[in-house]
Amino acid sequence: MRVLVTGASGFLGTSLSARLEEQGHEIVRLSSRRADLRRENALDSFDHQRFDRIYHLAAWTQAGDFCLYHPGEQWIINQQINTTVLRWWQTSQPQAKLIAIGTSCAYAPDRELVEDNYLEGQPIESLFTYAHTKRMLYVGLRALNKQYGLPYLSVVPSTLYGPGYHTDGRQMHFIFDLIRKILRGKMYDEPVVLWGDGHQRRELVFIEDFVSILLRLDTAVENDLVNIGAGEEHSIREFAHAICDIVGYDFAAIQFDEARYVGARSKVLSTAKLRRLLPDVTLTPLTSGLAETVRWFQREGVGLAPSTAENAK
Ligand SMILES: NC(=O)c1ccc[n+]([C@@H]2O[C@H](COP(=O)([O-])OP(=O)(O)OC[C@H]3O[C@@H](n4cnc5c(N)ncnc54)[C@H](OP(=O)(O)O)[C@@H]3O)[C@@H](O)[C@H]2O)c1
Repeated sequence: MRVLVTGASGFLGTSLSARLEEQGHEIVRLSSRRADLRRENALDSFDHQRFDRIYHLAAWTQAGDFCLYHPGEQWIINQQINTTVLRWWQTSQPQAKLIAIGTSCAYAPDRELVEDNYLEGQPIESLFTYAHTKRMLYVGLRALNKQYGLPYLSVVPSTLYGPGYHTDGRQMHFIFDLIRKILRGKMYDEPVVLWGDGHQRRELVFIEDFVSILLRLDTAVENDLVNIGAGEEHSIREFAHAICDIVGYDFAAIQFDEARYVGARSKVLSTAKLRRLLPDVTLTPLTSGLAETVRWFQREGVGLAPSTAENAK
């Protein structure tokens, strides 16, 4: 197949593109440098090619408290990115199936995180704009499918983890931040201070598992939204414990800063639909996935240089 991947330079895009290539597909990998999707004509130079798939991964966001401070920019930029891609799909690539990535934070926290609720209720306030830009992406897929019959798949991942995460100093998703802090505690005897009381609960999916499931859903499902989660969550304290065991650090030395931003208290996607569609799915056990991620951190030295003002934050 001929496949165009937006966001191919990102964490998920790198892993997905590598797998697609391994499977023998012909890939066009896009980053913002190759095609800045804020520009409405950014994809026009690919008009002469016919793609079978458009994997739309590009989004302008970061982990941590980034969404709290950038809602205006996030609204404009993500709407621009998504509109550029969807307009081009409709006008130039109507034969292609578009596979888009949603977000678990689009779900209202007071409802079950089941696919039928994706557009129901209100997402948490701190992620309100980002969540709505992802909801609008899904609305766009449905609208273009309804009016023009264009084929799509929308998937909603829980937090992804594993080797290959960004190393450029942007805020990290919680699990990478935990690993970095605990490794630094072990290496430099720095205090390990985690945000919140540590009882907030999260779900993780190993990046390679996510890519495998995504590619299977691509062939199995059309014009639908499917959650991809582990179906179980753990507290931050439990994640920290597991990392301490891998790294050899005393969990009792960890401090919890209850004044810091923690987002949702709990977040676990319903995986009933995924299990129905792919009953034989198995996931990498958390301890193996964490051990592999810690090894990657150590290999890459991500955030592990001797203390600087940035590291000490
Ligand atoms: N990681 C997770 O845990 C997670 C969880 C749920 C959903 N998702 C979704 O999965 C997708 C991929 O996530 P990720 O973790 O791989 O993100 P990432 O590492 O931050 O990568 C983002 C990608 O978007 C591209 N991009 C940003 N602004 C752009 C623009 N103006 N024009 C063109 N490309 C642009 C970036 O290109 P440059 O490298 O050139 O900046 C990069 O390739 C996103 O849609 C995200 O919302 C991720």
